[in-house]
This record gives sequence, structure tokens and C-alpha cells, in this order.
Amino acid sequence: MTRSALHELSKLLASSERTVEGSMSKAKPSKERRAVQLTLSRVTRSSSAQARQGDPPVPKDASAGPQMAPNQGAQRGRQADSGLAQDLSLMSMSEQEAILPRHRSPPGMKSSRSPPRLASKTVRATVPRGTLNSVARLLTLGRCRNVLVVAGAGISTASGIPDFRTPGTGLYANLQRYNTPFPEAIFNIDYFSNDPRPFFSLAKELYPGRHRPNYVHYFIRMLHQKGLLLRMYTQNIDGLEQMCGIPEEKLVEAHGSFASASCHLCYTPFPAEEAKKFIMTDRVPVCTFCQGTVKPDIVFFGEDLPQSYFQHTKDFPKADLLIIMGTSLQIEPFASLVNTVRSTVPRLLLNRDPVGPFQRVPLRRGDYMELGDLLDSVRKLAQILGWHQDICDLIQDEEQKVALSLQAAGVSLWRR
Ligand code: OAD
Repeated sequence: MTRSALHELSKLLASSERTVEGSMSKAKPSKERRAVQLTLSRVTRSSSAQARQGDPPVPKDASAGPQMAPNQGAQRGRQADSGLAQDLSLMSMSEQEAILPRHRSPPGMKSSRSPPRLASKTVRATVPRGTLNSVARLLTLGRCRNVLVVAGAGISTASGIPDFRTPGTGLYANLQRYNTPFPEAIFNIDYFSNDPRPFFSLAKELYPGRHRPNYVHYFIRMLHQKGLLLRMYTQNIDGLEQMCGIPEEKLVEAHGSFASASCHLCYTPFPAEEAKKFIMTDRVPVCTFCQGTVKPDIVFFGEDLPQSYFQHTKDFPKADLLIIMGTSLQIEPFASLVNTVRSTVPRLLLNRDPVGPFQRVPLRRGDYMELGDLLDSVRKLAQILGWHQDICDLIQDEEQKVALSLQAAGVSLWRR
């Protein structure tokens, strides 16, 4: 073999070694290979929507909206991983787009649902990803059409009715004048059986008629008008849900109401208006059958919940969004309802503080929490959905009707 032939041969060998090296480095041990594949598939999954639409990757911080609540750092991470989050990132309507067309609409051309429009890359990259935006997207995308609302006293504070447990202002902090051994005794059936006077005295203040529904109630009615409300489960006894026009069949008053009355011993019905007259004039209504004390059919501690409550066994498995508003979730069995939706169903808590399962860190995948004043949060949500003006119009119409009927009643009274 000549020197030049030897040189050619050594070059050939060196290049074939490089090829082998290259292929070996690709052929990693199986464990390492799996890791590479996993990483790749995770990237593909979380960015598939972006890849499909050619968007730049969304920076980590993009999920933090202006109303980001505490505890949501962990939640953000989970959302990004979920299939639901991928659906959300496919959503093509930004917050601004959802609101702007409503403002641009000429008067009288209000449509309750603006059609989704394709957003530009620039807009999509800057879409705010806060809690309310995420839930609004689900609703606008049509992912949630069976919405359950679970509510408590916090939805009525904007109507001027105190809740029960807020320190200082809550009803239970202001019952000293009734001299009950502990605050909840005023709603305890055994205590009432012994001495109904404290409750009757308080009932004079609680009877519906002195307060009007607020924006939050009308938001729920709007959910119904949009065909999205599966049912509302309320613990409230103020009657404001019915007053704002949520139909009876869409409402479960789990802790009863003042709309009917019966004997607390034998349950014989008693005319509600009669009972009210007795209570308002400091007299005790008595059962015509057993002489037991009659009380409005609000559910006391130690009493059974109404039959309508048991619709929850059918409703909760059917729900595709649960909104929890203004409740401390301290009273069972009502509080546990929120744990009976399917595990994939998004739950939104609108409250001043985290309650029930929302106190858990990290939050469950699909749990959203917007802390702060309920009225503010609900108004923001309505604005994102483009419902705000419709709700304001609805409130104005309803208030006008009430004013007119009061005026009419005044006139007819005057004529008599
Ligand atoms: P609570 O007083 O226990 O809880 C009200 C919740 O709403 C609290 O977490 C407040 O922080 C919150 N809240 C109040 N005002 C708010 C606002 N403006 N914005 C945001 N959050 C606000 O009332 P419930 O959970 O409804 O039973 O209480 C449940 C039951 O306990 C009631 O139905 C009642 C009571 O004993 C009966 O009447 C028989």
C-alpha cells in the first residue's frame, strides 16, 4: 500500500468513526431516551394551540391577570398543563374584544352575545389570563352550558343585608339584645321550641320587603336569560333571588324562606301572610291542629332541608361549571355540595376570603378564585362577558316596574 493510499484509508476510517459517534449520541440509553421523549411531548402538548396557530410562546407571566388572587401561582402552573387550558388558549376572543364591540354598538343594536372573532397574533400574545378571563372564555366558547350557582349571605350585603359571620358587622356579632346563650341559638329548633321570642323579634327585621336585589342577583338572572343556568342553590332567606326574577324552577332555597309557614311540631301549614301579621304585631302564631308554635318555613339548625334540595343528586353530576359566591361554606350539608361536581368541572369562588376547598394549597386543578368585593368581581366578569350593559338595563327596567307598581298602589290606596 502506497503512502497516499494509506492516508486515504485513515481519512476514511476517521470519518466513519465520526458517523458512529454521531449515531451513538442519538441512541441514548432507553431511560434517557424516554426522558427526551417526555420533554418533547410535554412541550408539544402545552404549546400545541400556539403551534397550530403560529403564535409565539406565551411568557410564563402572561397567565397572571390583573385580578390574580393569592394562592394562584400554583394554580397557574396546573392550568397550563390541563387540556382545558389548551382549549382556553384556542379561544380567539380577547378581553378587550369581548368588551369593545358592546361599547361601539349603536343604541338599540345590543346583541347579548358578540360572535367570537379571530384575534390577531399580537392581541393573542397579550391576552390577559386572569381568573375571570379564564372563566369568561369557558362561557363564551360554549364549554359551559350547565352552570350551577351556590350562594350565601355575601351576595346580599350590597343590598344592605348583613351576612352572618363577618366579624363586627355579621348578624351573629350583633345579637346581644336577644340574650341567647350563643348566637346560632336564634336559629336552633330546640331553642325556638322553648322560647320563640328571640327569633320572632329578629324575624321582624328579616322579613323580605325592605331590601332590593343588587347587581349580583341580576347577574345570576342574566345567566338564566342566556340559557346557561342549570340551577341556583342559595342558603339565603331574604327572597331576593325570586324578587330579581330568577324563576322558581331554577331556584333551590336550601334553607327555606318566609314565603310559607307551618307548625314547628306537626308541620301543618299555616297561611304565610297570617303568620307575618302575628309576628309583626308581637303575637305568637299558633297551630290550629296541635297548638304548637307556627314559624316561617326557614330551616333551623336541627331541621330537615326541603325536598327541593335533593335535586342536587341530579344537578351536580350534570354541571359543567360551578360558581360559588358569598358564602363561608361552614354549614352542612349545604357546604359539601361544592365537592359533588365531577372532578374535571371548573369551580369559581367569588368571595372576600378563601373558603371550603379553596383554602387548600395548592388549589385543585380547575379551581379558580377571585377574592375581594363580590360586587366588583361580578361586575368585572359581566364586563368581560359583554353583559354589563344588559344587566344595567335589566336593573333599570325592574326598578322602574317596582316604582310604577308602588305608585299605582299608592294611587289606589289614595282613591280608596
Ligand atoms: P356567612 O356569613 O357565614 O358567610 C358569608 C361569606 O360571604 C363570608 O365568607 C364573607 O367574607 C363573604 N362576604 C360577605 N360580604 C361580601 C362581599 N361584599 N364581597 C365578598 N364576599 C363577601 O353566610 P353563609 O355562608 O350564607 O342559616 O351562612 C350559611 C348559613 O349560616 C346561613 O344560611 C344561615 C347561617 O346560620 C340560616 O339562616 C338558617
